[in-house]
Amino acid sequence: MAFNEEMARTWAEKIVKKLEEKMPAAVQKAQGLSFLPYTVKDGQWAPGPFDGLCWWTNGFWPAEMLMMYAVTGQSLYLEEASRAENMLDGAFQDLEHLHHDVGFMWRISSGFHHELTGDEKSKKRALFAAQLLAGRYNPNGFIRAWNGECVGWAIIDCMMNLSLLYWASEQTGDPRYRLIAMSHADTVLTHFFRPDGSNEHIVCFDPETGAVLEKPAGQGVAVGSQWSRGQAWALYGFAISYCHTGAERYLRASLRSADHFIEQVQADWLPNCDFCQPSEPILKDDCAAGIAACGMLSLADVLGTKGEKYREGAFRLLKAAEEAHADWSLDNPAILTHCTGAYHSNDHHIAMNYGDFYFIEGVARLLGEKRLQW
Ligand code: GLY
Repeated sequence: MAFNEEMARTWAEKIVKKLEEKMPAAVQKAQGLSFLPYTVKDGQWAPGPFDGLCWWTNGFWPAEMLMMYAVTGQSLYLEEASRAENMLDGAFQDLEHLHHDVGFMWRISSGFHHELTGDEKSKKRALFAAQLLAGRYNPNGFIRAWNGECVGWAIIDCMMNLSLLYWASEQTGDPRYRLIAMSHADTVLTHFFRPDGSNEHIVCFDPETGAVLEKPAGQGVAVGSQWSRGQAWALYGFAISYCHTGAERYLRASLRSADHFIEQVQADWLPNCDFCQPSEPILKDDCAAGIAACGMLSLADVLGTKGEKYREGAFRLLKAAEEAHADWSLDNPAILTHCTGAYHSNDHHIAMNYGDFYFIEGVARLLGEKRLQW
């Protein structure tokens, strides 16, 4: 059926009704837990597999709650977000396990909380996290990924963490955070992008000189393949960099990523885990769908009437994920069922908190929610 805005709005309104029915039960199952919900086992929330409170997705649960609060105005979501945010404070005591993903952890938990309510404690938390992220910058032009021996490694996922740095500069008037973010984004433009609009997951630099040493396989199938979530991180990450800086080169990068993403998924709008994966097994990733959809909605917003292609792409991605993979029963606290951690791992076709977060963000954005912007 030909796309129009009204169709997307009607669909999103229908989804909000389903969210209003399902999410109170999901919150009830989270209350009193000593960990932050990540996935589901036997109908109950289960934590992330590593790093305890520092598990990189731990900000997505409070962010999901804040997005629900923004959409419904119901206080139970703000209360649960605050409970989760207080728990996340414990991660600040465990510096050795914190990493480049402090952007994911605090930009959309404490940062969004501050945006919605003006809470000063939340603002301080997010600014503290921005200091940690800025401290990972290597003056050769990249933010160091992970810990341990990966001293010169940078990854495409980190494009999303830059949002915290742009926000910190906007809050403080100090350009250092933004300059670090732009330096990293420019390095990604130079060393991660391929001519067809796809991108590398990992680039290993010599940490002393900045020379490129290696571009190993990451969470996709193999060296040179196209891990779909990495393609989505680039798409949305560069859209965010454009929104905060106005630099056209970031807009062009995001558009190239989006056009390539649409070409790869338009048969069924259900992204494979890797666009180069073999025909069997068929591995899907609902997280990639939601991230790409939200990135496309950012593009549609900045392009105005010229952005219809991306609004339609976002709508089709979200709708396809919902029709094929949503579980609206109250027994299962999560929504989407086909998230995939990595091609060569065991976490295939499971629930993941960020799969649900980006799905809800996409629905909220289709309805015009503009307060909670990365
Ligand atoms: N940022 C890690 C992942 O996308 O799996």
